[in-house]
Amino acid sequence: MNSKITAIGVYAPEKRITNAYFESIIDTNDEWIVTRTGIRERRFAADDQFTSDLCIQAAKNLAADNKGVTLDDVDFIIVSTTTADQVMPNTASQIQNGLGMQNAGCIDIMAACAGFVYGLVLAKGLVAAGTHKKILVFGAETLSKFTDYTDRTSCILFGDGAGVALVEPSDRSKLFNAVTGADGSHGKDLYLSQSSNRVINGEYIEANGKIHQNGKVVFKWAIQTVSARIRELLAKNNMQLSDLDWIILHSANMRIIEGVATEIGCPIEKMLSSIEYYGNTSSASIPLAWNIARTEGKIKPGNKILMLGFGGGLTFAGVIVEV
Ligand code: COA
Repeated sequence: MNSKITAIGVYAPEKRITNAYFESIIDTNDEWIVTRTGIRERRFAADDQFTSDLCIQAAKNLAADNKGVTLDDVDFIIVSTTTADQVMPNTASQIQNGLGMQNAGCIDIMAACAGFVYGLVLAKGLVAAGTHKKILVFGAETLSKFTDYTDRTSCILFGDGAGVALVEPSDRSKLFNAVTGADGSHGKDLYLSQSSNRVINGEYIEANGKIHQNGKVVFKWAIQTVSARIRELLAKNNMQLSDLDWIILHSANMRIIEGVATEIGCPIEKMLSSIEYYGNTSSASIPLAWNIARTEGKIKPGNKILMLGFGGGLTFAGVIVEV
């Protein structure tokens, strides 16, 4: 059984945080943040707003934007998040309850910024197995609740948001071959530890419930890994760069997107991002970028989009879809 993405929806919290906010709490400035990351602002969830709340609103927006789409007959919910409301119950179950989807299987997956694409890969597999027909794949985060606001190298990066894709059977495949993988030896370079003070590859992991990142190491790994995996993904699908209309990488830093574009020889105009007004939203960044381009009228029916997420783990996952 083939599958395709039939609709997407997004939601970002209302609270806008400009770079000026960080000038008031740490030693930084708007110019540094814009030139080193491409970020102008990000959204923060309210104190009483959590990841499942963002997901529920994203799903409602999907239904509102796509006439005829009903959600009560969704049969599986996959949520990619590293910032769940709580460990148990999982986020997917809270969405199921909030939206009254009585017969949906519910799982959360944790693959950090690669998680949304991992979710699409799993959904494709469920449809192919013939066991499920209507799957919601969420990428959602409330990173602002897990940010270390004393660390100026990381706190300026993160924002909150949610995106969701509806995956359904299709007469021909529009969710093509994927690449997935990880390099666990780099676990120490990007982590959010709640309970275990492990040592990974000689480096101490501090279990303080805050995001820690060795930015320079991840930056270099990202450009090399992402470029190589885009080439692998194209080869796996028997495609050339010219067959793609758009590339959506995880929006971690505009300089990573520019670096990859240079490395693979892709015009920067083909690279879509959500970095400028949402910051790094981890699992949510790819659907947010898709939605920006969609509302700007860039993405058209029949377009082919390569999506590739990368992040904590260090994990990566990429897939090519036809809209
Ligand atoms: N404001 C002002 N100066 C800052 C700063 C800030 N917020 N953060 C760091 N600096 C300073 C540093 O202290 C350093 O100063 P020094 O040269 O006097 O030592 C200088 O700016 C350069 O720091 P550096 O760490 O080399 O910056 P960078 O260009 O690597 O940018 C990141 C830092 C985090 C933005 C960047 O490394 C990055 O985006 N990394 C990858 C993120 C990623 O891909 N994550 C994976 C998915 S989530």
